[in-house]
Amino acid sequence: MIIIRKMRENDLIFFLELRNSCVEFLHNKKVFTMEECRHWFNKSIRYYIIELDGTPVGYVRTSNKTRRSIYIGADILPEYRRKGIASWALTTIMDMLQKPKYYLEVLETNTIAKKLYEKIGFKELSRKDGSILMEKEMLK
Ligand SMILES: CC(C)(COP(=O)(O)OP(=O)(O)OC[C@H]1O[C@@H](n2cnc3c(N)ncnc32)[C@H](O)[C@@H]1OP(=O)(O)O)[C@@H](O)C(=O)NCCC(=O)NCCS
Repeated sequence: MIIIRKMRENDLIFFLELRNSCVEFLHNKKVFTMEECRHWFNKSIRYYIIELDGTPVGYVRTSNKTRRSIYIGADILPEYRRKGIASWALTTIMDMLQKPKYYLEVLETNTIAKKLYEKIGFKELSRKDGSILMEKEMLK
């Protein structure tokens, strides 16, 4: 069974390891410490853990852009990729949060993630410094 739930403090070790293993896919390549991670955890960025049969396999991040829109993104453990997990988790979160618009940023070089985002309905808006800004408008 697959579920998505809010991240808890005892998920931070799992989260940090996966997040730091994916820095090559981020615009800001900084590796974070547990202390920095804890600081974020208590701020406005919201993370959700994806669990497959009770095992954490990835996470979705969301952060406020405006009251009516949110930035989202996902990272999945390598051994669980290409099974539809990110597509399922992102569409589930977007339905749950009920915002009219979602945004995300993806590196131009990350063709795999771009394909995923296009598959779930994101459209390219603009490009800057090697990143693509994408938007999805939800149907009313
Ligand atoms: C990008 C990422 C989150 C995708 O997660 P995932 O659970 O494997 O994605 P899905 O299985 O839902 O794939 C959805 C679509 O993305 C594309 N895709 C995913 N993996 C792919 C691959 N290895 N090669 C080509 N296309 C791929 C396909 O279009 C796929 O649809 P399809 O399987 O029907 O062809 C995952 O590869 C990952 O964590 N990568 C490293 C971190 C990263 O890039 N994060 C995003 C930063 S913006």
